[in-house]
Amino acid sequence: MSARIVVLPGDGVGPEVTTAAVEVLRAAGDRFGIELRIEEALIGGAAYDVAGSPLPDETLAACREADAVLLGAVGGPNWANVPVDKRPEAGLLAIRKALGLFANLRPVRTLPFLADASPLKPEKLANVDIMVVRELTGGIYFGKRQRTEKAAFDTCEYTVEEIERVLRAAAKLARARRGKVTSVDKANVLDTSRLWRDTATRIFADEFPDVTLEHLLVDAAAMHLLSRPADFDVIVTENMFGDILTDEASMLAGSMGLLPSASLGESGVGLYEPIHGSAPDIAGQDVANPCGAILSAAMLLRHSLGAEDAAAAVERAVIECLEAGLRTRDIAAGKDAVGTRAFGAAVADRLRA
Ligand code: IPM
Ligand code: MG
Repeated sequence: MSARIVVLPGDGVGPEVTTAAVEVLRAAGDRFGIELRIEEALIGGAAYDVAGSPLPDETLAACREADAVLLGAVGGPNWANVPVDKRPEAGLLAIRKALGLFANLRPVRTLPFLADASPLKPEKLANVDIMVVRELTGGIYFGKRQRTEKAAFDTCEYTVEEIERVLRAAAKLARARRGKVTSVDKANVLDTSRLWRDTATRIFADEFPDVTLEHLLVDAAAMHLLSRPADFDVIVTENMFGDILTDEASMLAGSMGLLPSASLGESGVGLYEPIHGSAPDIAGQDVANPCGAILSAAMLLRHSLGAEDAAAAVERAVIECLEAGLRTRDIAAGKDAVGTRAFGAAVADRLRA
């Protein structure tokens, strides 16, 4: 098998964590006989500085031609004052939209030996295995917005079709898991949420009667994620709620740096990125946790290349390294920490062994 991968390192710690993930990807490719053609392109502030746009045409064209895209992170204080449509984040939103990546899969698992990295009690963390499906190309992120001197607005819009397709993606994932979907909304206040809830009720009754559907208001969901995290299987929600809830959920695992994601559309290229940001405060110091990026590479192998054995081997190698006591600073809990490069190399070595 051969595959073309575009790597978009981006800003801040993005280049460091993608370098580690690419080393692991190459090791997995060698071991499982996948010929990887890897090229780099610019996105975010790094692209704005060179090309005057956070998503240059050449980058988008390269991504459209690729089998999959691996992205680091975008943003940082250097670009705080650039026009809103040229901000690094605008490049990320634009690529998600342009590639039609409406379903953002964010798995959250806890590992017993990392319990000391989480602020929650260990007994709460047992058996947590959640798949958050965040709608990624609609809602308030993409609605009409305006700012004047004295006022501003952002609008949240969803069509039935946009809601249906992400609900279907969540239901199919639940079928291969524990068969339960929690749909999160704010139906007591928002019309988009009432449409979301009605659509969920109908779609699950008509098409997924074998999957259990539960509705939860987003404020309650934020609380239940801490009080009964092990009860959740698949959580599906709109763009903004999913952004917020997954940062919260990362603390179940122990750190933002641990969580990967896969952004998928109806077909075609998938985009894989850690859920963390560019962390400019620690950029260039070789201390960022590359697990989120490496586990995103595992999701790439699984979802875009259909290489389940290679994906599982990468995930196993990460877990083994963590279990052996290799920890970056964010999860070291007072013990000796290893750097980004050393952690990536250790995972790659395990795959080569
Ligand atoms: C994420 C990030 C992005 C988002 C930012 C960088 C635009 O927070 O992927 O979770 O809000 O989607
Ligand atoms: Mg976020």
